[in-house]
Amino acid sequence: MADQAMWERVDEYFGAKLLGSDEALDAASAASEAAGLPAIAVSPLQGRLLKLIARSIRARNVLEIGTLGGYSTICLGRSVAPDGRVLSLEYEPRHAQVARTSIDAAGLSSVVEVRVGRALDLLPGVRDDGIGPFDLVFIDADKQSNADYADWAIRLAHPGTVIIVDNVVRDGRVADPADPSPDAQGTRRMLDALEADERLDATAIQTVGVKGYDGFLYAVVR
Ligand code: SAH
Ligand code: DHB
Ligand code: MG
Repeated sequence: MADQAMWERVDEYFGAKLLGSDEALDAASAASEAAGLPAIAVSPLQGRLLKLIARSIRARNVLEIGTLGGYSTICLGRSVAPDGRVLSLEYEPRHAQVARTSIDAAGLSSVVEVRVGRALDLLPGVRDDGIGPFDLVFIDADKQSNADYADWAIRLAHPGTVIIVDNVVRDGRVADPADPSPDAQGTRRMLDALEADERLDATAIQTVGVKGYDGFLYAVVR
């Protein structure tokens, strides 16, 4: 039976074979840690997956909800550079500041914009600015708002837009209606909304690795 230690060994193995060393991402992780930000960024292999998905769909215009220290933002920024853009929304000014510094150091300051505020307060302005529609939306902030974020993502989309939501499994808690955690409840509310939503086709994929047992929702707007 596989366990956390084995998942980490396998992530390490794939990382060594497939990722190589990456100064900007290593520096972004180190800066996040030094600043005391929580160690909850996507894993290196997951960050590569985001970059490859963005590249596969030739994304030019990406929206991220939840920047933290900019790790996933840098992965996405690289996939759209040099002429694309990534807009990332972050509630904590301190997180945004750490992220901006790492994004600059990665050479992506002309590609990435970080806006500070509650995402639900910022999204109307994103709509009114007319900088959409987005080709890819990565939702990775407070999970209580996932239903609202998914709805905003669809409204800021075009047919074919890919929407990815992080952390939808959470050790399996998502499938337990009695689980009281606001995260699980929020993600279940999103699934309830998507069940009746004719605007997209979606799947969900369970993952294991350095971040434990979790998963992604992956959707394409019709
Ligand atoms: N995408 C990042 C990790 C994001 S962690 C990566 O993989 O590298 C989640 C982030 O969402 C945190 O920085 C947190 O401050 C932010 N957040 C929490 N609530 C938010 C809200 N209401 N609006 C915007 N950001 C929020
Ligand atoms: C955690 C992980 C995440 O990827 C995230 O976005 C938020 C929290 C966690 O492990 O607690
Ligand atoms: Mg996450």
